[in-house]
Amino acid sequence: MMRTTAPAKVNLGIAVSGVRPDGYHELRSVFLRLALADELAVRPTSGSDHLVIEGAPDCPVDGNLVLRATAAFRAAAGVRGIDVDPVAIRLHKRIPMAAGLAGGSSDAAAMLRLLALASPGALEPLALREVAARIGADVPFFVGAAGAALVAGIGETVESLPPPIEPLGVLLVTPPVEMTTPAVFGAWDRLTATSAASTGSVPPATSATAVIDALAAELRAGATPSTITGLADRLRDANDLWPAAVSVWPMLQGWRDDLERALDRPVLLTGSGSTLVALYEDPLAASDAADVLGRARLADGGARIAATASTSPYPPDIDIIEEGT
Ligand code: C5P
Repeated sequence: MMRTTAPAKVNLGIAVSGVRPDGYHELRSVFLRLALADELAVRPTSGSDHLVIEGAPDCPVDGNLVLRATAAFRAAAGVRGIDVDPVAIRLHKRIPMAAGLAGGSSDAAAMLRLLALASPGALEPLALREVAARIGADVPFFVGAAGAALVAGIGETVESLPPPIEPLGVLLVTPPVEMTTPAVFGAWDRLTATSAASTGSVPPATSATAVIDALAAELRAGATPSTITGLADRLRDANDLWPAAVSVWPMLQGWRDDLERALDRPVLLTGSGSTLVALYEDPLAASDAADVLGRARLADGGARIAATASTSPYPPDIDIIEEGT
């Protein structure tokens, strides 16, 4: 049996600069890998691939990205004359779904990494990234082991960056709504078309890009957690998907206002939502803030609250534990 973790990510800023003919959007974002993770265990089986999911009764098995990743890897390996046997997979979910934390994409990437280890020579890293990009825009980031990255294109261009030199505390508040990525990008399309029509021109270049590039430069140079928290005010307004997310679920605005009052700091949106994020100089401060929110009975409104952290600057290239079969 082989086991690995599939970490969540948060986006620190997302600039959306346009839409391609295939409907995908050109992005620029800093991805930060988190300690919060799903777990994946895989063993060979006879018959066909089999997936069991624990910890999330609503998470669908059929069409799950983990199964799609397995099929895509097998097809790509088959072209090179390498057979990949059927696998029994156990997926333990901890990352909230449809929440902007890329749990499904990370699960798929973890599966690809396990299969690559189990089938040496089947796919070299470049081919693995190509397979990853076909599964989903967030998957290539997780195929690598980077603690952070500047991600561009539709998600396929990944420049690894060192994460903060000490762990950054990250508080996640996921309101009780699943926001689908296509719905939010669709709203962005409608809002952008409206603003272009009312000004009579194409929308102006996004100001989020400068904030994202400033953050990437800080990380490249070796950022401390306080460097990142010092940028939180600007990062808060550097997610171009915010107006679109609010138009899909207007209560998001009230959630952010309430959290900013309760936490006394800027609250960011990760991805297309719905998770709201506050940044702290250490993981303990994020845990304390989670306790404060728990006492304020915020969870009674159905929110999931989790205190987590960025990962170590030097994560192992492969975090796979091999056990006896
Ligand atoms: O690639 P993934 O399946 O994660 O994307 C889900 C949906 O999000 C896409 O079908 C598309 O509608 C939207 N998307 C986008 N531009 C991106 C990433 C995702 O429009 N760069």
